[in-house]
Amino acid sequence: MDRLKSSPQLMIVSDLDHTMVDHHDSENWSLFRFNALWEAHYRQDSLLVFSTGRSPTLYKQLRKEKPLITPDIAIMSVGTEITYGKSMVPDDGWVRCLNQKWDKDIVIEETSKFPELKRQAETEQRPHKVSFYAEKDKAKHVTETLSKVLEGRGLDVKIIYSGGVDLDVLPKGAGKGQALAYLLKKFETEGKPPVNTLVCGDSGNDAELFSIPGVYGVMVSNAQEELLQWHAENAKDNPKILHASERCASGIIQAIGHFKLGLNLSPRDVSDIGQNVENGSPGLEMVNFSLLLESWRCAEVEKTELFISGLKATTLPSGFFIHPSGADHNIKEYVNILRKVHGDKQGKQFRIWVDDLLATPLGSDTWLVKFDKWELSGEERQGCVVTAIISKKDSDWFTWVHVHETWLENSEQGLWIL
Ligand code: GLC
Ligand code: MG
Repeated sequence: MDRLKSSPQLMIVSDLDHTMVDHHDSENWSLFRFNALWEAHYRQDSLLVFSTGRSPTLYKQLRKEKPLITPDIAIMSVGTEITYGKSMVPDDGWVRCLNQKWDKDIVIEETSKFPELKRQAETEQRPHKVSFYAEKDKAKHVTETLSKVLEGRGLDVKIIYSGGVDLDVLPKGAGKGQALAYLLKKFETEGKPPVNTLVCGDSGNDAELFSIPGVYGVMVSNAQEELLQWHAENAKDNPKILHASERCASGIIQAIGHFKLGLNLSPRDVSDIGQNVENGSPGLEMVNFSLLLESWRCAEVEKTELFISGLKATTLPSGFFIHPSGADHNIKEYVNILRKVHGDKQGKQFRIWVDDLLATPLGSDTWLVKFDKWELSGEERQGCVVTAIISKKDSDWFTWVHVHETWLENSEQGLWIL
């Protein structure tokens, strides 16, 4: 977060399940499109915020199952927990805000008197969130009665019904919308309010996000009835809210274009990757290179000497490449190794993605670039940290000077990463 010296150009605040993540798309195509777009064009000057109903435990599980990139901020447990960065540093100030007129023990005591409520797993019970399953036809009645009972016990709560199954009881000041309002106020105080904010969601607990003043919003095409109904009743005439015609992350990309919030052409949608490279940023260069490597190994590009010599032309003769295993190659030698792996991942659902890219200028035409590189081959995933020096002296093309890769902690140390 501190990497941003001024206001973020775009702040995306997105729900995860059925919004950023399409659980009906086993190839995760729309998520891969979004990831490439974000790292190539937004990571440097914008903010990515995930806002999920999941507890930290289930959020971390989802990150293992799906190719999610790292958000700058994670809002979890329906806006009751906020953390910053990769190391997920908690916002203790937010926790203090939530203690007003809240007593978890009383909530547990009173809800246990409702046989219609079935308690969710222990991981989903959090200090400021008590969660149940409730059938659709019972939810309204339970919500009304429970609200009165808890009010009578001196509490100020908010009850949210989502996905046609989940019922969450939270402190009144909590929720995804309140958590976003808290962050926006914090940025304002720091003198860095986002230029534009886009909220993205599909279900009941996302509704509040759309009522924060000034924000753009996208309800993905597959949004739940409860959110569409909330919109029809409360925000139908708001021109800043779009019901996308595309599902999940593709709906988010569609909204970026619809509201003209910035570039919305994902590098994954460009068939001739080379065409994008000229005058590109370091971020775009890294994303495009990873896509090139992916299509080379999947044999989606033809095996030609022209390709190899083209790559060699973008490297510095004295440059080096250090593989995560420690093997040290001259960078042009590394390009020769690529010749052997053409097609080795053909038909294997092989994907490469860049995460958390940071490009630091070392001079007017040279950059130190650092990012996590992930490779997925079927079910197996491995990752490494890449640090590279690239420069753009005397041409429109980047020259790769040095590349150094190191296994990411907790990553399987397979042999197929390149
Ligand atoms: C997530 C959480 C669950 C919550 C639901 C709706 O699925 O795991 O506890 O009820 O979101 O907010
Ligand atoms: Mg959702």
